[in-house]
Amino acid sequence: MQKFGIIGMGIRGKMYASVISQNPNAEVKAVCDTNEAVLKEMSEKYGAEAYTDFRDMIDRGDINVVIVATPDFMHREAVLYAASHKLNMMVEKPFSTSVEECREMTDVIRENGVKCLVAFENRWSLPFINTKAVIDAGNVGNILNIYALLNDTEYVPKEMLPWAGKSTPAWFLFPHIIDMASWYTGKEVKRVYATGVKKKLAAENIDTYDSVEAILTYKDGTSGVFTTTWVLPESYPVVADQKMMIVGEKSSISIDLCEQMVKMASPDKFQNPRILGTPVNGHLNAPPAHMLNGYIDVLENDGEPLATEEDGLRNTIIIAAIHESIRTGMPVDIEE
Ligand SMILES: NC(=O)c1ccc[n+]([C@@H]2O[C@H](COP(=O)([O-])OP(=O)(O)OC[C@H]3O[C@@H](n4cnc5c(N)ncnc54)[C@H](O)[C@@H]3O)[C@@H](O)[C@H]2O)c1
Repeated sequence: MQKFGIIGMGIRGKMYASVISQNPNAEVKAVCDTNEAVLKEMSEKYGAEAYTDFRDMIDRGDINVVIVATPDFMHREAVLYAASHKLNMMVEKPFSTSVEECREMTDVIRENGVKCLVAFENRWSLPFINTKAVIDAGNVGNILNIYALLNDTEYVPKEMLPWAGKSTPAWFLFPHIIDMASWYTGKEVKRVYATGVKKKLAAENIDTYDSVEAILTYKDGTSGVFTTTWVLPESYPVVADQKMMIVGEKSSISIDLCEQMVKMASPDKFQNPRILGTPVNGHLNAPPAHMLNGYIDVLENDGEPLATEEDGLRNTIIIAAIHESIRTGMPVDIEE
């Protein structure tokens, strides 16, 4: 039985608690949040112990796995404390927004034999799993070029994430699409060049980029273009638009998650309801649920996580280089 302690009971922590509560091999043993109102509500809902400090939760000694679902830039302390107590863990993306922190976290995770899953949830998303199978079967051939876009409407930085001004759309969204490119190609990035625009959100006191564009050159010359924005109008038919095109020597593949098979025109909005997250038989049928249920299976069967701290570190190295390139206006070489 996997006894979970969830650190950060916001959007993601709440969703994970719901998934765990439906898994026969897992239990929401404890929840932790600095927001006492949320903490009380969630501990009552799941009959779980409540903590405002994750150290107290871990010191109590009755959980064997944690989920770290605090804001982007706040994963380090919980990861280090849990890993040094040999607790397995699922950590939200980005693994960290600092390469140094990632290296420190990776070292402690390895030293303590912790099974760490970094939550690159697209690896559990049907269109992306399907594409991976096609690529692995050799039907695309050597990949020459990848184009990927992941955009949010303004709702995300303005209403959904109170901490948007302390992150960037590149830290929040690029982990997904850059991880997909790494997963598909298995290739390592050699050089990064990026530009960023800081106008609209900054004028509204959210001090972050509106959009970021990055060109990645992989060691074998493969190129990738990655783009993200946080300022799509709220009338956009989905909150998060994700597209990808992969061009190989044999075939190309295009993925478009804006197209959700169902379209709805209401008096003030045209929407594409989110079909890929529809509950089936009362179970959340969405990538993060498949990811967490898969991780519980890994822990129950002594398997290995599909996306590890190593993947998280590599991902952060690339996204940190993207921010460095925006800052300096120069290409940034990825160190060996
Ligand atoms: N929301 C999404 O769509 C989404 C999707 C994929 C990944 N993520 C990632 O998940 C992580 C969490 O995102 P979210 O959207 O759930 O954020 P959120 O703001 O909804 O939740 C974060 C929670 O952490 C709590 N918190 C802050 N400091 C804490 C501390 N020291 N100890 C315990 N709790 C603390 C906050 O009170 C809040 O309830 C981020 O890294 C984000 O990038 C979010």
